[in-house]
Amino acid sequence: MQLVLFNGSPRGKTSNTKVLLNQFEKGFKAGGGEVTSTNYLLRQKHLTEQVAAFKSADVIFLAFPLYVFSVPGIVKQFIEAIGEFDGCGKKIFFLIQSGFPEACQSDSAKKQMENLAKRWKMENLGVIVKPGAEGVRLMPAIMTKKLFKQLNALGIQLAKNGKLNEENLKNIATPYRHSKSRITIYRLLQKTGLSNLYWNMSLKKNKAYERRFDAPYF
Ligand SMILES: Cc1cc2nc3c(=O)[nH]c(=O)nc-3n(C[C@H](O)[C@H](O)[C@H](O)COP(=O)(O)O)c2cc1C
Repeated sequence: MQLVLFNGSPRGKTSNTKVLLNQFEKGFKAGGGEVTSTNYLLRQKHLTEQVAAFKSADVIFLAFPLYVFSVPGIVKQFIEAIGEFDGCGKKIFFLIQSGFPEACQSDSAKKQMENLAKRWKMENLGVIVKPGAEGVRLMPAIMTKKLFKQLNALGIQLAKNGKLNEENLKNIATPYRHSKSRITIYRLLQKTGLSNLYWNMSLKKNKAYERRFDAPYF
């Protein structure tokens, strides 16, 4: 099987999306599959070529981070540039990875992708949903070992059987919602300030810490 990848992260090559795609790709190649091209939607100057690559591919993997319960702007632009398309006989599948730790955050984007596949008349092989992925590109190997193994397995299965294993898709998309006991733990953690450590670091780095409660639309 030959696969064309689309990375919809505005972070491009330094993205969590890329880290996850790499792991999938590793399994896919080990299973005998071939990735013919990887397209970074961040490179907007290449939009015309990217649309052409999409339309001529037989199997497409569109991966992106969740942005405000939906797709980043560059992905929306790409989808609109494809426009009405008859992809009958072609296959597509998706990866939606998000910062918030519950998979339910991606429900509406998942539905959007399912509708899109129908609209393009393409066979939808599935939607990989991975919550809590913001730190993936920075995490030590021990913390990503299980996830990477799951992605490798999905890649191998696709190359060998032409399908994404349903059980594996379910296991990656966990937790769907936090249990009450976990929510209690998070509330306690919040009081220590530990749960905000990473985000505060990022806000300070971008000189936005003092403006963290800005709410421009209210
Ligand atoms: C503008 C913006 C909006 C975001 N919206 C959401 C969101 O609605 N839900 C969520 O869980 N994560 C959200 N995130 C977090 C990203 O999905 C998360 O950090 C992701 O891992 C980034 O992936 P990347 O490195 O591939 O770009 C948002 C991030 C940004 C910058």
